[in-house]
Order: sequence, then C-alpha cells, then structure tokens
Amino acid sequence: MSASARRLSLNLFIYPGGHHEAAWRYAASDVDHLLDIDFYQKLARRAEQAKLDGIFFADGPVLADNIRFAARFRLEPITWLAAIATATSRIGLIATASTTYGEPYNLARLFASLDHISKGRAGWNIVTTSAGLAAQNFGLSEHPSHADRYGRAQEFVDVVTKLWDSWEDDAILLDKKTGIYADDTKIHPIDHIGRHFRVKGPLNTPRTPQGRPVYVQAGASDDGRSFAARYAEAIFTAHQTLANAREFYADIKRQAKALGRHPDHIKILPGISPFIGSTEAEAQKLHDDFNELVQPEYSLHQLKRMLGIDLAGHDLDAPFPSHLINFDGAQAVASRFKVVLDIVDREKPTLRQLLHRLAGARGHWVTVGTPEQIADRMETWFQSGAADGFNVMPPYLPGGFDTFAEQVVPILQKRGLFRLDYEGTTLRDHYGLPRPESVYGQQARATA
Ligand SMILES: Cc1cc2nc3c(=O)[nH]c(=O)nc-3n(C[C@H](O)[C@H](O)[C@H](O)COP(=O)(O)O)c2cc1C
Repeated sequence: MSASARRLSLNLFIYPGGHHEAAWRYAASDVDHLLDIDFYQKLARRAEQAKLDGIFFADGPVLADNIRFAARFRLEPITWLAAIATATSRIGLIATASTTYGEPYNLARLFASLDHISKGRAGWNIVTTSAGLAAQNFGLSEHPSHADRYGRAQEFVDVVTKLWDSWEDDAILLDKKTGIYADDTKIHPIDHIGRHFRVKGPLNTPRTPQGRPVYVQAGASDDGRSFAARYAEAIFTAHQTLANAREFYADIKRQAKALGRHPDHIKILPGISPFIGSTEAEAQKLHDDFNELVQPEYSLHQLKRMLGIDLAGHDLDAPFPSHLINFDGAQAVASRFKVVLDIVDREKPTLRQLLHRLAGARGHWVTVGTPEQIADRMETWFQSGAADGFNVMPPYLPGGFDTFAEQVVPILQKRGLFRLDYEGTTLRDHYGLPRPESVYGQQARATA
C-alpha cells in the first residue's frame, strides 16, 4: 500500500452497552463493567491493535429520560478519555462537548490538557446539544433555538481557536542560564469581545502537540452543514442510503472548497452499525435476535425525540401514521427527522417495523451480512463519493466490535483500503490533516 493511496478512516463510536437500544439485554453483552474504566481501556487497546484512527464518545449534559429501559447514562468524555489516554499510545480520542452549555475558556483548557496528556491525540466533537431538557440544568427557562445555538457555536469555536493559538509554538524558552522560562511576546491576549463572549486570554496552557485538537462536527441541518464546511476536519453523519450520503458528501466538499479549504482536509464519516455472521442467514438471525429484545415503550420514546410526536397507544402493526407528523416540530434534530421521514417514504413500514428499523442505531446505517459483504458495502461507499471512512457503531460490546476488528478489518487491509500500521502518532497524522500554525505566529512573521 503506497503512502499516498487514499485510505479509509475508521473510528470506534462507543456507547455504553452498544448501539442497539436493547444491546444490554443481549446475552453476550458485557454489561457488568459499564462503569469500569478497565473495560474501556481494554476496548480502546483492541481498537488500537486493529489500527483504527480513533475512539469517540457522544455526550449531553442531561440524563436521558428513558433510562428505565436502557443504559443511557454518561460519563464525562474528556475525563473518560484522559484515563484511556494513559492505557494507549496511538489511537485518537474524540470527546463530545457542547457549545450551548459550556464556556469557551474552560473547554479550551480541557481539550488542550487532553491533547498534552495523550501526546497529540485529542479531537473535539462540537455539538450544539439536541436534548432540550439540558436547559433545566443550566438555569434556562428554555432550550435556545436552533439558529441561536449555531450562532453561539460559531463564536464559541472562534474564541477557542484563538485561545489554542494564543501560545506560539516556540514561546517556551527554558533558558536556565538567563533565567528566562518563556518569551512572553509570543504569548498573546486574545481580547475577544463578541455577542456571546468576552474573553481576554491568553490560555493558561501552552500550545498543544497538535497545535489545535482536531475539530469534529456532527450536525447535518443547513446551518450544521455550513458550520461543518467552515470548521470541521472530520464529520460524523447518519445516512440510510448511498444516494443521500453522496448528496451530503458532495455538498460539504463543495461548500468547503468555496470557502478556500482543501476538500481532503475534511473527513466525512457516516455511521455504520454492522451485524456480522459467517453466513447471511446467521447475520440476519443475529439482527432478529436483537429486535426480539426491543421494548416498544423505549422505542416510542426515542421516536418521539426524533419526530416530536407521541405515538404511545397506537397499533404497532398498523401502517405508520404519517399524517400525524408535524413538520414544524422538526427543529430539535432537523437532520435526523429527515432520515426517519425518508425511511417512511421509501419503505412504508408499520409502526413496529419503523421502531425495529431505528432500534439498531437511531437512524444510522445498519447493515447485516457476512464480513465480505460488509467490506464490499464499505468499499462501495468509499469509492463512490459517499464517505472518507466510517464511524463504526457495534450493536453490542465487546463482541460486536471484536467481530468487526477480527473479520472485516483484515479484508479492508488486504484490499489496500485500510492501514496495516500507524504511520504517525497524532490524530491529525491518522486523518492526514495538516498541523495548523498559530494565527498570532503567522501575523508576527508577516509583519517581521
Ligand atoms: C454520529 C453523531 C454523533 C452525535 N453525537 C452527539 C452528541 O454526542 N451530543 C449531541 O448533543 N448531539 C450529537 N449529535 C447530533 C448533532 O451534533 C446535532 O446536535 C444534531 O444533529 C442537531 O443538529 P442538526 O440539526 O444540524 O443536525 C450527533 C450526531 C451524529 C450524526
């Protein structure tokens, strides 16, 4: 495999218990250790042995209101990944953090620290938080509107970027003879005054190994797409069909190019939840076994979050009642709403069939087959302008990931689509992203 060949980027998206909503009930799920850091360290080391680019934790600052039926608690992802950093050496560590319910100075410090602790493996999944209930934990009477959330997100990321840039790379002198620790002309206040934030700076943490942690983004509404085209270096996204994934891919790369960015510097990574069997029938049986464990009460609740309508009490085996969908209610998660509507339009499912369809991975691509078939499908998406790689979402843990790592990854490697070994040490190296220079360093050189 030549160093310049285009290769897949693969992340392991870890949900406690696995991505299928009934995963924790599956006999082979290891659910006794979901609060045990050893479990996650071991999982991350397995992902590293398989040469994956990164692991990723989602997050939201509120407890899911359907915890009764599934392991939907959260540990705080930066803390979680700092502990995993010490048990691994190469794999990227991507944490979700909200721009709606946080402050840029605190967040810049946390991620800068994770980048130092991990020696350059940190990534920030920038989200505006879709769960409206979070507002109640932050003294707000209501969740800010979609447009306001993205407005704040933009300024938030600008401030964090300036803070990460506030130390030039060569600011630390360590000159024991003269007694000069740092060249403080290379450590810059940012003097930010904007609509949402007033931040003087500089950051109290030196420039990090990657310069800046990797910017990841996961919203796909119109606002989300333009935000991603401007800032994101990797994009997590959910698509059910190749056609939708291609449209999204082309749109983002086009918008990024129009902003003067190199399209290769944005990795578009749709979610894939693989149900793998040694025969097609075995894979299908695995998928069916999971759906047997689904609890409709939980699934209906999930659907309500995606569509904004409560279908509790409706006949599960009657056709999905499309006429009840209120398009104005879609604002909370605009893009996932569209994914569900597309399934309804295309497949005309019963309510139960729709619930099963979404149970695997909340609207992400669920694919059922042999290792060869899964690899073929991934290759098709990769080669036809739909994906630069994937966010791998095992239905259950750890077995659902082990099967992927042991049976699908070697096929991708044999086809020259995936690395045999790491060529660098940072997450930027794995994704093939440049290390950014501090804007203050750039300005200083331009005026020198
Ligand atoms: C793979 C993936 C992971 C996501 N993880 C989170 C998350 O951890 N927290 C969150 O609030 N939203 C998460 N989202 C949702 C988006 O970030 C975004 O908040 C939501 O889709 C609404 O934005 P949109 O309307 O632009 O799509 C995720 C989306 C995807 C595709």
